[in-house]
Amino acid sequence: MREVFHLQEEYLLSIKDVCKSFSGVKVLKNVCLNIKAGTIHSLMGENGAGKSTLMKCLFGIYKQDEGAFYFKGEPFNFTDPKHALENGVSMVHQELNQVTKRTITDNIWLGRYPTKGFFVDEKKMHGDTMSLFKRLNIHLDPKTRLDQLSVSQRQMVEIAKAVSYDARIIVLDEPTSSLTSHEVEMLFAIMRRLRDEGVGIVYISHKMEEIFQVSDEVTILRDGSYIGTEDIKDLTMEKIVNMMVGRDLDDRFPPKDNEPSDVHMSVKNLSTRYSPIIHDVNFELRRGEILGVAGLVGAGRTEMLEAIFGARTLKSGEIYIDGKKIDNSTPHKAINNKFALLTEERRETGLYPIADITFNSCISNIQAYKNKIGFLDDKKMKEDTDIQIKNMRIKTPNRREKIRSLSGGNQQKVIIGRWLLTNPDILLLDEPTRGIDVGAKYEIYQLIINLAKTGKSIIVVSSEMPELLGITNRIMVMSNGYVSGTVNTDETTQREIFNLSTKYLNNNREAEV
Ligand SMILES: Nc1ncnc2c1ncn2[C@@H]1O[C@H](COP(=O)(O)OP(=O)(O)OP(=O)(O)O)[C@@H](O)[C@H]1O
Ligand SMILES: [Mg+2]
Repeated sequence: MREVFHLQEEYLLSIKDVCKSFSGVKVLKNVCLNIKAGTIHSLMGENGAGKSTLMKCLFGIYKQDEGAFYFKGEPFNFTDPKHALENGVSMVHQELNQVTKRTITDNIWLGRYPTKGFFVDEKKMHGDTMSLFKRLNIHLDPKTRLDQLSVSQRQMVEIAKAVSYDARIIVLDEPTSSLTSHEVEMLFAIMRRLRDEGVGIVYISHKMEEIFQVSDEVTILRDGSYIGTEDIKDLTMEKIVNMMVGRDLDDRFPPKDNEPSDVHMSVKNLSTRYSPIIHDVNFELRRGEILGVAGLVGAGRTEMLEAIFGARTLKSGEIYIDGKKIDNSTPHKAINNKFALLTEERRETGLYPIADITFNSCISNIQAYKNKIGFLDDKKMKEDTDIQIKNMRIKTPNRREKIRSLSGGNQQKVIIGRWLLTNPDILLLDEPTRGIDVGAKYEIYQLIINLAKTGKSIIVVSSEMPELLGITNRIMVMSNGYVSGTVNTDETTQREIFNLSTKYLNNNREAEV
């Protein structure tokens, strides 16, 4: 026995043979993981592989059925997250779980307010938050209420909170899903600094480029089983993908065999009234076409989709479908005009967590399930949901499962499926594969191409250049609220798109036109 501990002493954290089942389904099967002090250790695996569950067992949110955790060779077991935090383990969760009606300061110090006599020492709390933000280079006023922040700012607050515990082990579960590239750089700088101070960091992300940028070591899980741990320098992307999915993925993209035909939608002089402003956007979308939208964060891509969908106040703009002017002044009208918008922040804004998959799938199209006397057609809802689960390969025992018990990526798939069930003609997809693993990405690409083949017209906003090049027919580039160019995908390069993205960065558009 002693020998085993001896072996483990070099590790800050050892996880040994952890098993966990939910309602009889084993989602962790003898998982092992060893984290050295002063390293960034990435944990990878497909959606539903068990990454978050393993970390929740470590953090005391779930209790593992079997197996053990060791801190520097000594066994430990946290009874709850508070216990974990007090013992130097903190975690940034995949799902933001904050009290949005309270201030940043309140959220960070919740449950451990410093006191002065009987009173909460507000001044100290504020001061501590300020110095924490200074250390992390975060520019936010601690007195701001959380519901006034963007999702990315709220994510930074969560990260600051995790750091504030002076933890020896920090788990970051997809912390960058909604951060801008600048914020990602900042986060990586923080992570590297903590690593150099000897902290062990467990990093979970589906973004391959990031994994290679920050990791020292990578561990891969597949279907709840431990597959292996490697030094980052011994890994390639192909090797990681192979370990994750258990076979080679020859192509990242399915064949692009949709054939755009006549003009389906024209957008003319679209400008929004309030910041972030988009200026005079004009373009045509052909039937069966997949039009990509590229640009840097803040270029106005999301706002452009929202403007088309009636979710922004317009200064000017007209939308034509098959040459006929339509009124999309509210999302409700847009839905009636057979538009669908998949929002970027869908996990925060689009879920009904305690409802089951069936409800979450059918809610946007609920009218369609009402029978003559106004009752919901349960059978049809069930059938459609089962088809979605199958088509999108949503990993779940059945459609009655509560959506909050699905893995993060699988929740995303349910929401994508929900919009598809509204049978839209024009789909506006904002970052459709964010948080989704490589294998499932392929399936979503195939789904998008198949939809285009049936005559649906699709706009895809994406920050992933390979994705835009892989599945679109044309790419429209936005820069600082303007369209800076439109290119045929087969004739362009990453370089050209990048140049167009930065074209109006210095506000030099007015000078040019
Ligand atoms: N509370 C729960 N009740 C029932 N099943 C659960 C619960 N939490 C997780 N699961 C199941 O356990 C499996 C692993 O989920 P987990 O969230 O750990 O995956 P993940 O690797 O983090 O995936 P992702 O990349 O999508 O975040 C999934 O099949 C999920 O549906
Ligand atoms: Mg997860």
